Amino acid sequence: MSSGGQREQWATRIGFIFAAVGSAVGLGNIWRFPFQVGQEGGAAFLVIYLLFIVLIGFPAMLIEFVVGRHTERNPVGALQEIGAGAWRYVGWIFIATGFVILSYYSVVAGWTIRYTLLGLQDDYIADAAEAEAQFVTLASGLDAIFLHAIFMVAVIAIVAYGIERGIELAVKVMIPAIIVIMLGLAVYVATLEGASEAYSYYLSPEWGVIAAEWQSILPAAAGQAFFTLSLGMGVMITYASYLGEDRNLAEDSAIIIGFDTAIAFVTGLIVFPVLFTAGVAPGDPGAGAIFVSLAAAFGDLTFGWLIGAIFFATVAIAALSSAISLMEVVVSYAIDELDLDRVTATLAIGGAIFLLGIPSAYDLVLLDLFDLFADQILLVLGGLLLAILVSWSLSTLAIEELERGIGDLGSLGTAWIWAVRIPVVLVLVVALVLGILDYYE
Ligand code: PFF
Ligand code: NA
Repeated sequence: MSSGGQREQWATRIGFIFAAVGSAVGLGNIWRFPFQVGQEGGAAFLVIYLLFIVLIGFPAMLIEFVVGRHTERNPVGALQEIGAGAWRYVGWIFIATGFVILSYYSVVAGWTIRYTLLGLQDDYIADAAEAEAQFVTLASGLDAIFLHAIFMVAVIAIVAYGIERGIELAVKVMIPAIIVIMLGLAVYVATLEGASEAYSYYLSPEWGVIAAEWQSILPAAAGQAFFTLSLGMGVMITYASYLGEDRNLAEDSAIIIGFDTAIAFVTGLIVFPVLFTAGVAPGDPGAGAIFVSLAAAFGDLTFGWLIGAIFFATVAIAALSSAISLMEVVVSYAIDELDLDRVTATLAIGGAIFLLGIPSAYDLVLLDLFDLFADQILLVLGGLLLAILVSWSLSTLAIEELERGIGDLGSLGTAWIWAVRIPVVLVLVVALVLGILDYYE
């Protein structure tokens, strides 16, 4: 894919799906999802999250797809084409969001590189409390800044030379690999002593928790749904802009969402049995949940170092394909609007994002703040504004665009628009307000 000049298109049906799945599946599923579940009350969060994936994520993804395929432009250009007046600025929110997210996403990706190396050095620690202490030491400071730099260099190199095709290929191999390793791990941890307690924490909701904690569960679940599906910052607009062809976008969305949700769900099946067996409260390790619990599990397994190294390397590559999609949006904007060439744009933006990530690499508390701000405020805001614009003032265009490749939708098209107009918009407004209150608390 390259921006500016002539527009490339996906070579095959599979190319588009894999790129979109590659963007969606990443640290959001394997790192962020389990720690959100842990912080927001377990199964209660899971239920709301799954509801939001279906009721908000699915219609919102369709919106981004129809906007991208219709305009065939980058998100800023797309918004300038379809929106009047102040709506033009919505594209810039996307760009700012991409900037902020990638800055700390890269830091977390750096941790996955670190944990790959730990495996190769046979340094996973079976004791969960010690594994947690190990994480705290490794996750911030000079070491973390260095690995953040390495990851950004990889992202810059790939985006600068436009070799996403290579990444597409890697993603095709890696996604099945992630699924196989994760299923194997889920089976292994099922034998642990804490497994049944963990399953009931993760899978059987206490409705009282929802009633008591909805003010924090709602924005966290909405934010996580957007984050994990790569929505709210124009990635899916960009990817669909390379489509051209009349594909069934509803079917494609269902496939992408299915993969993403399955991987997140299985991650939970792995993390919680390990934490419960180790006697660590699920909310405790926070951003370190996946690293602490898996290091402890791998530390305990024969050949755990090897499986762990393969696992974390795979996660690093999944993170790379997501990071590229974030970078691509910002870079394509800079090329189109600022008239920079691709290499200059990528170097300048990548350098700036690296600098912005340094505070997150230096201090976990700052990383948490960046993450909360981007996720509960910026992504939800971008997604909300786009939903309002398209559902209220561009509904005919949106339905026609969705029907290309599906055929006459009849009342389903209207149902989609109305689902966005009121329920989706309302939930997002509430989530945004609660998210802002939560952030300033
Ligand atoms: N969806 C990615 C993940 O779950 O890791 C993260 C992400 C990529 C978020 C691209 C937003 C985005 F635009
Ligand atoms: Na995801």
